[in-house]
Amino acid sequence: MTAEIQIFLSAAQEAATAAGTLIRQHWQRPKQIYYKGAIELVTSVDRESERRIVDVLQRQFPDHSILAEEETDLVGSQASHRWIIDPLDGTTNFAHSYPQFCVSIALERDGEVILGLVYDPLRPECFQAVKGQGATLNGEPIQISGIKELDQALLATGFPYNHRENADFYLAFFKSFMTRSQGIRRNGAAALDLCYVACGRLDGFWEFNLRPWDTAGGALIVEEAGGKMSDLSGNPFSIWSNEALASNGAIHEVMVNAATAARNAPAR
Ligand code: IPD
Ligand code: CA
Ligand code: CA
Repeated sequence: MTAEIQIFLSAAQEAATAAGTLIRQHWQRPKQIYYKGAIELVTSVDRESERRIVDVLQRQFPDHSILAEEETDLVGSQASHRWIIDPLDGTTNFAHSYPQFCVSIALERDGEVILGLVYDPLRPECFQAVKGQGATLNGEPIQISGIKELDQALLATGFPYNHRENADFYLAFFKSFMTRSQGIRRNGAAALDLCYVACGRLDGFWEFNLRPWDTAGGALIVEEAGGKMSDLSGNPFSIWSNEALASNGAIHEVMVNAATAARNAPAR
């Protein structure tokens, strides 16, 4: 790993630790909740977590750009480098003191994600990847599962905040995967779902309408652990795409087929 990447990684770790400490202190306390939409929440801890992360990164890299979910969209003088941050992924879980949430920090250079870090402050588990250097969990190398058949696969998904309006559409995909896999989990923190694919706890994951801060860190971690990312038709993945499919690679094509079957299913 180059000295420069090591500096970026140390900064990401420092930022995630600062945010994770805050989140851990607050997760069982009453929350100050604000509504972004009918069911989309944000808490004062999401915002404070973002401020802590941005403070660390801005202090060390004042020229870099930063895109974070809640309040930050800065263009730095060295705009080739952009940090993409979800200060608290799994806010609905956090608001209910349901213990599944994380911090996600990624660094993009010239439009390519080169570093990803996803930190679960409760367990505590820190997933990391550097482009071309593999992925780790708490410093130990991780890899995707060896499951070969969808029939034996444990999958996960999530539902976007417009799930009330589009329930039938999302349920068509859920049904298609439910009838072809061993089981489906809905854990509520997409960045952690991706990391669970990376370390073999899950064999596949899909979701619609994720945003760059949900996927930038986790998608690199999946790929560096030997997994595959695409959209639900099998096209190359982009953090800007509104479809995400992650798998261990071996079941990727059959997952694309299951998604295609769902898309072509007659509307009920
Ligand atoms: C959400 C979580 C959830 C997913 C939603 C995301 P947030 O992010 O990742 O698992 O289903 O689509 O928006 O709002 O908790 O940061
Ligand atoms: Ca998120
Ligand atoms: Ca968030």
